[in-house]
Amino acid sequence: MPVKWEDSKYSNKAKKFLAKDPMKFPLLTLLDGAVRSGKTLNIIQKIPQIFDAIGNDYLKVFSGYSKNTVRNNVLIELKPFIENYLGGSLKANTSSGEMEIILWGKKYPCLIVGGGEADSVASIQGGTWDFWYANELPQHHYSFYNMALSRLTPANARAFADSNPESSNHWLYQEKIKPYLENNLDVKAVFEYWHFTMQDNANLSETFINNQNKLYSGAFKARKIDGLWVVADGLVYDTFNTSKHVIAKDILLKKIDENLISEYFLGIDWGWNHPTACLLLGVDKSGTYYLFDELYSQKIEADIVVDWINEKQQEYGRYFSFANCDNARPEQNDKLRKSTNLIIYEEKPRIEDSISLVRGLINYDKLLISDACTATLNEFSTYRYPSESEQTKYYSGGSADLPIKINDDCMDALRYAIFKHLTTFSR
Ligand SMILES: Nc1ncnc2c1ncn2[C@@H]1O[C@H](COP(=O)(O)OP(=O)(O)OP(=O)(O)O)[C@@H](O)[C@H]1O
Ligand SMILES: [Mg+2]
Repeated sequence: MPVKWEDSKYSNKAKKFLAKDPMKFPLLTLLDGAVRSGKTLNIIQKIPQIFDAIGNDYLKVFSGYSKNTVRNNVLIELKPFIENYLGGSLKANTSSGEMEIILWGKKYPCLIVGGGEADSVASIQGGTWDFWYANELPQHHYSFYNMALSRLTPANARAFADSNPESSNHWLYQEKIKPYLENNLDVKAVFEYWHFTMQDNANLSETFINNQNKLYSGAFKARKIDGLWVVADGLVYDTFNTSKHVIAKDILLKKIDENLISEYFLGIDWGWNHPTACLLLGVDKSGTYYLFDELYSQKIEADIVVDWINEKQQEYGRYFSFANCDNARPEQNDKLRKSTNLIIYEEKPRIEDSISLVRGLINYDKLLISDACTATLNEFSTYRYPSESEQTKYYSGGSADLPIKINDDCMDALRYAIFKHLTTFSR
């Protein structure tokens, strides 16, 4: 449901941002901070005024991790705002990326682009822009970000971005936010930083804010609630709580008997010296995921996994629909394809993305693990990010949060299974 702008309430910070003359902003302005703090909607609300101030000589670009995220996070609010409240029009073709906004008699040619992949930069080479809105800027590839800034050559060009905090090793923090906070005048000449907390969004209820507070702990609380750029440390699934998220095997068997589980599927992480982990999951109608069973062993061939899957289908009296497997062992995946009735996917999700999906399920108590799955439970209690002093030892060179790659076999299999089901089947 789009926002009812006539009911909007404004904090002092929002008022200050909205009242500022668009031309008084420097080249790039970042709104960062807590989740739900109003960053995106403040920019959306400001866009008509910014367009009017900049004029329509050049292209205006909207980017996000992908074109779809721009549509889901931005256009979904911008279009009704422009059409229903300002009497303009917004026509977008999200597959080609072409978009045209008409406002107060002026036509603005726009482009929607995804900036999250290493090759995204190819889509924006050449051309001059006078406006860029980067939704969730830290999710953009560094090369895309640099290319985008270099497109903004007209003197009146302006860029606005929003973001949730990430690691303090992220390029955005290192290159812009940190020097800004340290009063670096070169950075301040081209960059302005607006920090929002949930208190800066006057449209949120106290209950909502209190509930959000309960969802996070540790470094993720610091980021999502306090809006701070900190290195993720400690356990990856730090809100996993054995008293809430572990379920007795016989209760699970009862759910199966009572037909409460609507679909069964697997995640597989192949190993040899490292163990192979094969996890059997199910989901019920409310969207709660259950881990029923695990196969966890070193030095096992695909045949053993095939036998295990077929035996488990017999044991539970249910057919399993698919397995999403580690793509590093295509020949093993072929064996599964030939010798089981399952659809075999080989889709390796980005570690950060799939961890955040799993973390979301845990935070909403929508992932329950059978007490029989001891290897998985063991990994839940040890799977962690490197500490500050271990960073150099494990540092991968990127700016992403990556857990230490030890004892992560079940954690990987779990990510593969849940990512595939959540992104493909549960919409
Ligand atoms: N001007 C406004 N009028 C009415 N509601 C608003 C307004 N601004 C924000 N909200 C409400 O607050 C919610 C969060 O706002 P918004 O999506 O802009 O936050 P955000 O900081 O971008 O969040 P996230 O970090 O999750 O992307 C909106 O979904 C809406 O319900
Ligand atoms: Mg947002």
